[in-house]
Amino acid sequence: MPFTTELTRRFGLRHPVLSAPMGAVAGGRLAAAVSRAGGLGLLGPGYHDADWVDAEFAAAAGERVGIGFITWDLERTPARLDAALAHRPAAVMLSFGDARRFVPPIRRAGAALVLQVQTLAAARRAAELEPDLIVAQGTEAGGHGSSRALFPLLPAVVDAVAPIPVLAAGGIADGRGLVAALALGACGALIGTRFYAAEEAIGSDAVKRRLVERGGDDTVRTAIFDIVRKLPWPEPYTGRAVANEFSAHWHDHEAELRRALPEESARYAAAVTNGDLDTTVLWGGEALDLVHDVQPAERILLRIMREAEATRRRLAAPDIS
Ligand SMILES: Cc1cc2nc3c(=O)[nH]c(=O)nc-3n(C[C@H](O)[C@H](O)[C@H](O)COP(=O)(O)O)c2cc1C
Repeated sequence: MPFTTELTRRFGLRHPVLSAPMGAVAGGRLAAAVSRAGGLGLLGPGYHDADWVDAEFAAAAGERVGIGFITWDLERTPARLDAALAHRPAAVMLSFGDARRFVPPIRRAGAALVLQVQTLAAARRAAELEPDLIVAQGTEAGGHGSSRALFPLLPAVVDAVAPIPVLAAGGIADGRGLVAALALGACGALIGTRFYAAEEAIGSDAVKRRLVERGGDDTVRTAIFDIVRKLPWPEPYTGRAVANEFSAHWHDHEAELRRALPEESARYAAAVTNGDLDTTVLWGGEALDLVHDVQPAERILLRIMREAEATRRRLAAPDIS
């Protein structure tokens, strides 16, 4: 039986799942594969420019996809939004910053407006912009985020912003997580980490192997990878990454890292060139515990939906065990 929710109805989807706009990971192939499989895939330009946006829409080969921007970074180079809107995305998601100035062009282009928030206060502010969807992102999430756990945050956001539909993000990688999110009042899930370990995601075999090998206990929420890359992320945002030698050395020693920046930034840049995963950042969330293989995105999504159906049946049984 299909999972019909406000999300599937509004967007004409077969499954209540969006793939996250993972920066420089969610290109056109991944987004298109998720959309083709019945969800909605979002492109993640991260800090990339308008050329990247054009190339990845081309890679989506006409499949209906959306896109998600880091809001404070979009303020530095707003032309990327125009480039994206020219491709008529199904949705534009904005996260991490003040979205207000970008709402009119998104509306004019006829794209759905999706706002990702990390606190209840931010959800209330987002609701004033009357978005089509609000994403409540828990601290479990891979990549940037903040400190609230999804379980209490999600139902509070659902209550505060009703009737705006809410998606859950952070720590969801299987059907049990999806059904839990629905039980807490969400109309679907925005999933990142699980889709990073998809064949279509941008990333080397070594990166994806590490995602499979590591678990949630191995992740750390930290600012050091932004400090060393000289990216001016505002408070309260930090990023959840797979711990490595660099984080073991510098996490909780941010002031020292700032003092050592000239040498450390150069060393970091060299590590990027060499593909040195013991130094460079690998974003990933607590859901890595549930990531056991690299699969095509369609297979990942269909497995989540099969598990969700099995979970629904289990919960419907008169004697839950
Ligand atoms: C590798 C990676 C990169 C990410 N990059 C972005 C980004 O550029 N913009 C954004 O809004 N969210 C980004 N996120 C966060 C996602 O939007 C989403 O909240 C998160 O992936 C959900 O949690 P999960 O990873 O546990 O599924 C990223 C997440 C990951 C794993």
